[in-house]
Amino acid sequence: MSSIVIYFSRNGENYFGGQLKNIEKGNTEVIAEYIKDLTGAELFKVEPASAYPEDYVECIDVAKKEQQNGARPELKETLDDISAYDTIYIGFPNWWGTLPMPMFTQLEQLDFTGKVVKPFVTHEGSGFGSSQRDLKKLCEGAEIKKGLSVPGANVYDAKDTVSNWIDE
Ligand SMILES: Cc1cc2nc3c(=O)[nH]c(=O)nc-3n(C[C@H](O)[C@H](O)[C@H](O)COP(=O)(O)O)c2cc1C
Repeated sequence: MSSIVIYFSRNGENYFGGQLKNIEKGNTEVIAEYIKDLTGAELFKVEPASAYPEDYVECIDVAKKEQQNGARPELKETLDDISAYDTIYIGFPNWWGTLPMPMFTQLEQLDFTGKVVKPFVTHEGSGFGSSQRDLKKLCEGAEIKKGLSVPGANVYDAKDTVSNWIDE
């Protein structure tokens, strides 16, 4: 059985329990790497062709507009075949209540028929928001398993939680 982690994660300035902090590695990426360590899954990082601003306030503004416009930002590289994998882990930060728009660009390209999808999110308080509903549409034909939601500030303490969730 082989698996892949398809994820989006942004480094740069981010907000942690009331403070702005610059991070080298995005929170979601930390979880994605645990999954790789624990399962041997491959990693595929979804990256927009034009990067989001490092500045947090600018970034949330750009992201909000994209969502309002139903944008499908162009990607640096697109994954176009997941036929080799049984289990697809899908990870993302909660952006304005759902997945960042580049994840829509990517996931709409893929055929999820017969796949097992395990979604995970990092967030600053709102968990999955409405992303699980969006995932149902984006991953039509997949069996979507229980998701894992981790507050961004806790990702470095979450390896055991991730391990238990993988085994569920
Ligand atoms: C553009 C943007 C929008 C966000 N919107 C939300 C939100 O609606 N709810 C929430 O709980 N956190 C929100 N956050 C916080 C992120 O979900 C959280 O910091 C996450 O862990 C970031 O993951 P990353 O470092 O992998 O990109 C937002 C962050 C950004 C940059």
